[in-house]
Amino acid sequence: MADDLRAPRQHITATDEWSALASHHDQMRDVHLRDLFASDPARGDTMLVEAADLYLDYYKHRITSETIALLAALARKARVEELRDEMFAGERINITENRAVLHVALRAPASESIRLDGIDVVPGVHSVLRKMAGFADRVRGAQWLGHTGKKIRNVVNIGIGGSDLGPHMAHDALVDYSDRSMNFRFVSNVDGIDFYECTRDLKADETLFIVSSKTFTTLETMTNARTAREWALKGLNGDESAIAKHFVAVSTNAVEVANFGIDTANMFEFWDWVGGRYSMDSAIGLSLMIAIGPERFREMLAGFHDIDEHFRTAPIESNMPMLMGLIGCWYNNFFGAETVAVLPYAQYLTRLTSYFQQLEMESNGKSVDRQGNPAGLQTGPIIWGQAGTNGQHAFYQLIHQGTKLIPCDFIGFARPNHVVGDHQDLLLANFFAQTQALAFGKTAAQVRAEGVPEEQVPHRTFAGNHPTSSILVSELTPRTVGQLIALYEHKVFTQGVIWNVNSFDQWGVELGKKLAQAIIPELRCEQEPRLSHDSSTNALIRRYRATR
Ligand code: F6P
Repeated sequence: MADDLRAPRQHITATDEWSALASHHDQMRDVHLRDLFASDPARGDTMLVEAADLYLDYYKHRITSETIALLAALARKARVEELRDEMFAGERINITENRAVLHVALRAPASESIRLDGIDVVPGVHSVLRKMAGFADRVRGAQWLGHTGKKIRNVVNIGIGGSDLGPHMAHDALVDYSDRSMNFRFVSNVDGIDFYECTRDLKADETLFIVSSKTFTTLETMTNARTAREWALKGLNGDESAIAKHFVAVSTNAVEVANFGIDTANMFEFWDWVGGRYSMDSAIGLSLMIAIGPERFREMLAGFHDIDEHFRTAPIESNMPMLMGLIGCWYNNFFGAETVAVLPYAQYLTRLTSYFQQLEMESNGKSVDRQGNPAGLQTGPIIWGQAGTNGQHAFYQLIHQGTKLIPCDFIGFARPNHVVGDHQDLLLANFFAQTQALAFGKTAAQVRAEGVPEEQVPHRTFAGNHPTSSILVSELTPRTVGQLIALYEHKVFTQGVIWNVNSFDQWGVELGKKLAQAIIPELRCEQEPRLSHDSSTNALIRRYRATR
């Protein structure tokens, strides 16, 4: 079935469904949200969707019920539902790598069965989960001790990209559920300062390194892992036998794990059908599981599964990830919006935007379609943002009064993890007020009516008409974190199908890696190397060698 994905097809922009949207855009382009709300007071009743514990309000978008109907027709034309079903059925929809895309199996209950080439992958998933749980419990309960018999107090995950961002983001999101007597650190950058700062106050005999890498060949991770080995040996009197108690691995590559010197008995496996950026709920989440405990980790998996089920079964018009994906296409492809801001009003979610940057930009940052032709339309947007309210005092100015259209996702929680005075009401009041200000702005007449001097009126006028989605969740828990991540995973999937790109490869990261390999010896060698790069790169290398 997945072979169909390579077959020539009508370009989506040549379909009637696209043309209908283009005509509709001609009518909607200049319509203001003020008018949409004024002309349809009951608008809100239809532009809400709930899925598990997530509540999405999409009233404040430059859309009508007709827009949603046209976008749903486009999704049907692009076969979003069929492709989704192929993903869940274990078809090899990652056509350029000939792989299935089965992160949904990572959170399937043991009672379910998902087959890949006729073999049910769910029992393997649960077997690794049990192994992780046993290990996490032993570390947390001081049954797994360091080489000298000391309790493990520090867990350092070494990984990068999908092997870092997910566990790091989720650890920070759920730190309130974690064992606060332990330290969890994440080393990713090949900049030695990352390793230095993460370990400078740690003792080797109390530290466990989890080397997380799908391939176990990534330059940054292997460099940091080697440095960690030296650091640990130094702190453990050079005793090689100590390594077994202080290093474990998470990987799909047992051969490279063994080559590195980690006993594969201490390796936690995952599979090539889990993309790096879709792997935080696999063994890549081991550091998180040690932090929050296996039970909480399973709650998070249940949250992912809640949204998987919603995505798998809800009709397009009430399917939260599909709606978010389609509304994103509306701005990206018809209004020409180039970026999306993700603005969590939750301090624990400060790393969420970075996580979504990889999820969205590595998945849909493509300019070639599944047939190998130029994509012929705008694909993945730039994702950026930071936790509110800080952004309000930094970049919101540009969203409110700049010249760019920036759709925003606001994310907030009704109940805080800790009640601190009346901060929560202030936080949420800001969230709601920002979406209001962005949508409705302030007219020149309103500004004048406030007695503002005429010369200031243009400066203090807000055009409004800036679209926002508001995602309101009752509480930040492992389960709701799982739901939120799955929501965005499936939003990305929906958009990838509309744009006809393979959301599951990442060839674009290869070239820079290769070129770096050529430059490394030129920086390391004693004698002045013969350089044959472009003149700019040659000059940079010479300058670096001369000034280091
Ligand atoms: O360079 C991109 C990438 O391949 C990501 O897709 C991946 O998440 C990251 O590197 C890390 O890869 P690995 O887990 O194999 O070390």
